[in-house]
Amino acid sequence: AITRHYKFNIKMQNVTRLCQTKSILTVNGQFPGPRIIAREGDRLVIKVVNHVTYNVTLHWHGVRQLRSGWADGPAYITQCPIQTGQSYVYSFSVTGQRGTLFWHAHISWLRATLYGPIVILPKKHDSYPFPQPFKEVPIIFGEWWKADTETIISQALQSGGAPNNSDAYTINGLTGALSNCSAKDTFKLKVKPGKTYLLRLINAALNDELFFSIANHTLTVVDADAIYVKPFKTPIVLITPGQTINVLLTTKSKTPNTNFVMAARPYATGPGPFDNTTVTGLVEYEESNPKQMNKKPLLKPALPKFNDTAFAMKFSKRIRSLATAKFPANVPNKVDRRFFFTVGLGTRPCPLNQTCQGPNNTMFAGTVNNVSFVQPNTALLQAHFFNKSRGVYTTDFPANPPFIFNYTGTTPSNIMVASGTKVVVLPFNTSVELVMQDTSIIGAESHPLHLHGYNFFVVGQGFGNFNANKDPAKFNLVDPAERNTVGVPSGGWVAIRFLADNPGVWFMHCHLEVHTSWGLKMAWIVMDGKGPNQRLPRPPSDLPTC
Ligand code: C2O
Repeated sequence: AITRHYKFNIKMQNVTRLCQTKSILTVNGQFPGPRIIAREGDRLVIKVVNHVTYNVTLHWHGVRQLRSGWADGPAYITQCPIQTGQSYVYSFSVTGQRGTLFWHAHISWLRATLYGPIVILPKKHDSYPFPQPFKEVPIIFGEWWKADTETIISQALQSGGAPNNSDAYTINGLTGALSNCSAKDTFKLKVKPGKTYLLRLINAALNDELFFSIANHTLTVVDADAIYVKPFKTPIVLITPGQTINVLLTTKSKTPNTNFVMAARPYATGPGPFDNTTVTGLVEYEESNPKQMNKKPLLKPALPKFNDTAFAMKFSKRIRSLATAKFPANVPNKVDRRFFFTVGLGTRPCPLNQTCQGPNNTMFAGTVNNVSFVQPNTALLQAHFFNKSRGVYTTDFPANPPFIFNYTGTTPSNIMVASGTKVVVLPFNTSVELVMQDTSIIGAESHPLHLHGYNFFVVGQGFGNFNANKDPAKFNLVDPAERNTVGVPSGGWVAIRFLADNPGVWFMHCHLEVHTSWGLKMAWIVMDGKGPNQRLPRPPSDLPTC
């Protein structure tokens, strides 16, 4: 294992998309941002220097951060923001993971433009558990707004309403031929016939889960969230914000005289509205005869309907750990603590003398067990580490919903949310089972829940209300998917297990940024253990202060 150094200068850069130029936050002037490459076991040392007028933090999404919680990055959870002119060195190792992850800003909506791939290769003399690909290509999905996203979200939060939708989705930062002048901004995957490509798919979009497909080609899923999975073939992939999926693409044995369209568009079941545009890219065969090319029509892929929840559930269930001797699925088989969380939306009262854009003059709120998380103004991890929790957070996050109703039935009236900075405290090595239940208070909706600091096993999922008497009997404890982000099914539930063996403060939230902003988030505090490698070290000396 080696140490790899990166320098990330956060700076503004003019970028033109959809025929309009705007100044966006970038790392080193690049959009999407630079690719980080490491081998499993390597240490990454990334110096981030803030040259912009915004407060910034970066998060290494899906990296386990074993005993390096100070480097995790969510603002006001593990660190105070890096202010203008300041810098912070994120230092951590990549252990027990191989595949694709990504980094992104973790404050307000800055991840709209601040994101890039993290490629984790196997250890030096290790090979993939699938045929060595000819080439590897990151494909990172995003969203593009013509307007300034910081203005959009702050206006939305003030009015209590929904922020504007994006104007386009992007593939590697490119919007595709959505309008005439944008056709040149089309991502092209140049391929040779008869070869296998590893596509590293990343959904960095702010607010939408995406279907993705390539016309006339089959994809083989081999890795999800940097964990190898049992390979399976599918023409279409569903990827939520926060998820990463590696697929193999085997090209046609002979060069066809046509191009193939790749396309991504949203899977959405909420009350909407949502950006329902489609982003396209091209697969171009390098040795195609240019004279014959384009005479035949381009082939376009067929994608499911925007609200195809049956596809979403089926696809999610197909993802299984390899569960071999070399890559075991270490599913906790005893459970120390059980939690049942409702996740969804609710409302809160409109402040006096103000008009609000939520339903019936309320403000939208996101909740877990009816608690809408209030962001503290100092970092929880510092408060915890230095025993200064008073006035910052309370440890009374409810293990169960405060009241029981038909979660997926007709919308109950008048469910106002509670607010607070509440956490769950877990002793070191607690084995946790957590059932997350979607609620249809504002409308059933799939919520991609992301847990920091851990991978968890997706042991069960289903539609309707979770049944504690019947459903656990069907849990998969043999080869469940091991992930860091899972879609809580629209109108259903998901059950996960993890072993709390990483001390620190770990954020858990919906990776739809609009829901996070509304409060659909909470945090776990995992206490130090007594053993030598069971404690969180002291913070680095350059940790920003609030
Ligand atoms: Cu990808 Cu809390 O984030």
